[in-house]
Amino acid sequence: MTNPTDLLHRRYGVDAFNADIPWNQTISNLLSHRSIRAYLNDPLPTNTLETLIASAQSASTSSNLQTWSVVAVQDTTRKEKLSQLANNQAHIRQCPLFLVWLADLARLTHIAENQGLPHEGLNYLEMFLMAAIDATLAAQNAAIAAESLGLGTVYIGALRNRPEAVAEVLNLPPHVVAVFGLCVGYADSSINVEVKPRLPQAAGITSGDLSVRNTKTGN
Ligand SMILES: Cc1cc2nc3c(=O)[nH]c(=O)nc-3n(C[C@H](O)[C@H](O)[C@H](O)COP(=O)(O)O)c2cc1C
Repeated sequence: MTNPTDLLHRRYGVDAFNADIPWNQTISNLLSHRSIRAYLNDPLPTNTLETLIASAQSASTSSNLQTWSVVAVQDTTRKEKLSQLANNQAHIRQCPLFLVWLADLARLTHIAENQGLPHEGLNYLEMFLMAAIDATLAAQNAAIAAESLGLGTVYIGALRNRPEAVAEVLNLPPHVVAVFGLCVGYADSSINVEVKPRLPQAAGITSGDLSVRNTKTGN
């Protein structure tokens, strides 16, 4: 476990604040996050995928509707095609596991049709937003689980550059959209990747009266 002072300095630089804060292994892992864009060829340990999916499924999900799905892409040909559709990003080809996270309203559509129930409500933007949020929370749980196992990850939003072509490669049914991909694999440690800085907390936190909280003084 890395100590808070080091990690807060890496994350906030000169704006790092008092390191006397609650701390544990989970928080240490979260503050150590960095996206990995160079992977070794090493395979993942047996059943890693199952662990990542169980972690993803343990995320909160709106009304427990679980309006997301994921495609685990491991074969070279499909990774190559998806890489080309996402600005030719090499890490998609390199990583042993490429997870494509889907906002999935097909399952609910199918259930409604089977029960002879109307399902026009599924066409509202709100339902797409709900599905995309559910997929995102699930993916982030999987990413945190992967990092806790010593694996690297990077999200791939560029998968939305060509949504229809991506749907074709993955054979997606109607009512399903790929919201982003996630590369998973062992980082090539010969390439140094720093923790990237974030805005000071004062840029985003307000107290109840909407005045900006000064995180340096605690006012
Ligand atoms: C939704 C989403 C989409 C992203 N898409 C890409 C991408 O297509 N390619 C890439 O190299 N990084 C992508 N990233 C990674 C971000 O660039 C990265 O998280 C950001 O620069 C901060 O760096 P860090 O993750 O190392 O802290 C994406 C991140 C998110 C959350």
